[in-house]
Amino acid sequence: MKKILSFVSARTTLIFTWIFAVMAPWLFYVCRLGHVYIDIVLFDGFCTTVFFIMAISAVFVSILAFIRIRSNKYKDTNELPKWLNVCNAVFFVLTFLFTVVWIASLSVMGKESSPVAFRTLLPTLFTGFAIIVGAFFALFFPAIKPRKIRAGIAAVVIVALFFGIIGSLYPLSVYKIISHPMVIDTGKDYSVVFATNTSGTGYISYEYEGKSYLVYDETDGRKVNSRIHSVSVPYEHLDGNVYSVGSTRVIDELSYGGTNGRTVESKEYAFRSDKTTGAEKKYLCVSDWHTHNDLAKKTAFLHSGYDGIILLGDALPGLQFEEEAAEYIVSFGGELSGGTLPVYYVRGNHETRGSYATSLSERLGLDGFYYVTETDEYRFVILDSAEDKADDHPEYGGMTDYSAHRAEMVEWLEGLAPSEKPTVVFSHDPKICLEEDLQKRAFEKIESLNAVLMVSGHTHTSELRKEGELDVLIDGGHDKGKFVATLLTFGADGIEVLSWDEEGNVTVSHTFLYAE
Ligand SMILES: [Fe+2]
Repeated sequence: MKKILSFVSARTTLIFTWIFAVMAPWLFYVCRLGHVYIDIVLFDGFCTTVFFIMAISAVFVSILAFIRIRSNKYKDTNELPKWLNVCNAVFFVLTFLFTVVWIASLSVMGKESSPVAFRTLLPTLFTGFAIIVGAFFALFFPAIKPRKIRAGIAAVVIVALFFGIIGSLYPLSVYKIISHPMVIDTGKDYSVVFATNTSGTGYISYEYEGKSYLVYDETDGRKVNSRIHSVSVPYEHLDGNVYSVGSTRVIDELSYGGTNGRTVESKEYAFRSDKTTGAEKKYLCVSDWHTHNDLAKKTAFLHSGYDGIILLGDALPGLQFEEEAAEYIVSFGGELSGGTLPVYYVRGNHETRGSYATSLSERLGLDGFYYVTETDEYRFVILDSAEDKADDHPEYGGMTDYSAHRAEMVEWLEGLAPSEKPTVVFSHDPKICLEEDLQKRAFEKIESLNAVLMVSGHTHTSELRKEGELDVLIDGGHDKGKFVATLLTFGADGIEVLSWDEEGNVTVSHTFLYAE
């Protein structure tokens, strides 16, 4: 027992206990994306309470360490009062438990969301480091012996602070476009979307009928400074044409003046239209890739010769940051289409979560997530099923009103006129609406539109279903390290459906004939 008490009260132990004690509330706060799940299982406010206990504990550990290290009265390890040894032991155990708790709260977030914790940590890294180092110097530094260790610590801290300050003022990374563009068919034009590794302005350049076009991503005349760049282009300008995109880094955007960095340009892309009448058209459907870009691409590229790409949503767990949308939606769509094919984007329920969710449609150049678009031969009805739980669910943090959004969408759907062209409906959630009355109205209307098929995702299964008279294909997506993608081939008589997994095994094969 005596040995344990002298260990927890040793100066070195106390300094390490203090470092872990002050880091615990910081890192627990950074991992707060998983707190809602812990609170749902235990009780609302549990994690906030733990956070405050961690913060109070950090203050007490600081006081105890200061008393032990800086006071002349408690210099001799063998002469420490019992209360001080017991307090040190209690806070040593508590700090160990808190460290386990914040690591556990990281694991609750899962592999897909853990990078979000790192991204949340990044902007606080320099300030957090500076606060801990500052507190360390104020509280304990003069008591560190021998002098050589003190000089070493001071040198390391000065170098780290120097590079930290330089790095926070001037970008150290090389500016680049991170993938091929994703050309979204918005129902009224094309939106050419691409992403860069940090913020800048974006443009597209091409020639059409002998005239050169350089069109910027702008709002009311001012260029947009972001990682995701989108420019609207009329269908006829891009169909069968060649284009390239470019971007200029913005280092400083100010009310007066500012600083630009390097300008980068892409190669030329030869864009192929799917609009014109001709031979059969092939569309690749990919859903629920949940950050597994590489596995989804590997599966998709087991087949080739696509005329268009249909992204059925659930690219990632949630949209907290712009770079998540850049990597898992824009880059992914760009890699699948190679910048040369039209992409149709259907929003998944996981793209409705997080602070960046409200910016997504605008950055993708879409007026909204439900719309109709047509080729010369087919009609696509793209629906937005939004979330799969009621708006008051704790996961949404009081930020959603999707019930009203779905009601508006069903009203819009009911206003659609039937078409001579075979119609295919796309909806991330095969239920379309959470509300039973809206669901009933949506399916009744779809039946009256003579839809050949509805294609969905969300359940991470590969199967054919019936919803009343309507045939529904569930595309597949990611499931425990496996993946299923689908090819829709629009032929003269019907739509051939072929789904396959990452090893090429066929999971669904069926042909749906057009109505007479
Ligand atoms: Fe989903």
